[in-house]
Amino acid sequence: MRIAVLANLKKDVPFDIEHPPDHDYWDDLDDPRTVRAVVRALRRKGHEAKYIAPRLNVIRRLLAYQPDLCFNFCEGHFGVSREAQIPAILDMLRLPYTGSGVLGMSLSHNKYMAKKVFHWVGLPTPDFMVVNSPDEIPNVEIDFPLFVKPTHEGTSIGINENALVQNYDCLVRQVKWAWNEVKAPILIEKYIEGREFTVSIMGDRVLPIIEIVSPTGYYSHGQKEDENSPVYRICPAKLSPEKRAEIEKTALGAMCALELQDFCRMDLRMDAEENIYILEVNPLPLLFPDPLQASYVFSSKVAGMTYTQMINNLIEVSAKRLGLKM
Ligand SMILES: Nc1ncnc2c1ncn2[C@@H]1O[C@H](COP(=O)(O)OP(=O)(O)OP(=O)(O)O)[C@@H](O)[C@H]1O
Ligand SMILES: [Mg+2]
Repeated sequence: MRIAVLANLKKDVPFDIEHPPDHDYWDDLDDPRTVRAVVRALRRKGHEAKYIAPRLNVIRRLLAYQPDLCFNFCEGHFGVSREAQIPAILDMLRLPYTGSGVLGMSLSHNKYMAKKVFHWVGLPTPDFMVVNSPDEIPNVEIDFPLFVKPTHEGTSIGINENALVQNYDCLVRQVKWAWNEVKAPILIEKYIEGREFTVSIMGDRVLPIIEIVSPTGYYSHGQKEDENSPVYRICPAKLSPEKRAEIEKTALGAMCALELQDFCRMDLRMDAEENIYILEVNPLPLLFPDPLQASYVFSSKVAGMTYTQMINNLIEVSAKRLGLKM
C-alpha cells in the first residue's frame, strides 16, 4: 500500500506569541524520531510510506501523493477539537485513515464531554464539574480532596504539584493557575486515591495492562517530562483475573461509548474499595519508539510485538475496518 504518515512535530510549531516554541503547551506534539520509526516500520513490511507535514498545503500534497491509507497521529495546534481537524480534512478528501474520526477525536479531547458520555452509558468516572472562567468558581458540591486539570489537554499540561487540593482556597488558586496555563475551561474532579492503570487497546484486543506508580499520588506534567522522575510502570499489572476482566470490559466500553476506532490508550484509577474509575481516554497514544516513555509501545512489547509488528498490526486493524486490500 502507499501510506501517507501525518503527524505534528514539535519542531514545526506555528508562531504564537502566547506559546513560544519551548512552552509546555506544545509538549503533546511529536518527535521526528517517531515519524522516522513509523515510516521505517511500514517500509520494512513492503509498504511505500512518506511523511507529509500537516501544513496549510496538506490538501494539495495529499492529492498529489494519492495514498491508499493515511497513518494519522496529528494532535493539531489550536482549537478545542484540534485532534479532529485532520480527520475532517481526510473525510472531505475521501481518503481512508487509521484511528478515530471527527466525533471520537472531539469527544475524547474534551474530557468534560467524555465524562458526560460515560455518565450517560453508565461507565464509572470520578464526580466532576467544569469552570468556564477563572473568576466564577461556583459552589462545589463534591467532597474534598479534589483534582484540578484542564478539560482539553494531554501530557498532564496544566497539572503541576498543586493539582491535588484539600480546601476551597487552594482550589481557587489552582483553577486560576491552570487557567493561566491553557486559557481554557478547567475540570474539577473528585480525587481518586489509589492505584493507577493505563490500558492500551488494539482493534478489539486489550493489551497487557500497565500499573503506573507515582510517589506523589498522581502523574504531573513535570514527572512526564523528567527522564529521571521516580514514577515507574509495571506490566502486566498485578491484578486478580476478575479485576483484570472488569478493567478490560470497562476500557472496551469506554472506547465504544466515545465512538473510537482501531486503537487508543486510557487512564483509570482504583480506590481503596477496588472501585474502578475512568479518568480519560487518548485516541492518539504516544508512539515514540521507546517503551520506557510510551505506554502503548510498552504494552505492545509485553504482548510480544516488536515496534515494526505493532505499527503493521495497527495498519491491519484499520485496513480490515475500512475493507482495504493489503
Ligand atoms: N480524578 C483524579 N484522581 C486522581 N488522580 C487524577 C485524577 N485525574 C487525573 N489524575 C492524575 O493526573 C494524571 C494526568 O491526568 P489525565 O490523564 O487526565 O491528563 P492528561 O494530560 O490527559 O494525560 P495524558 O498524558 O495521558 O494525555 C493522571 O495520570 C493521574 O495520575
Ligand atoms: Mg492521561
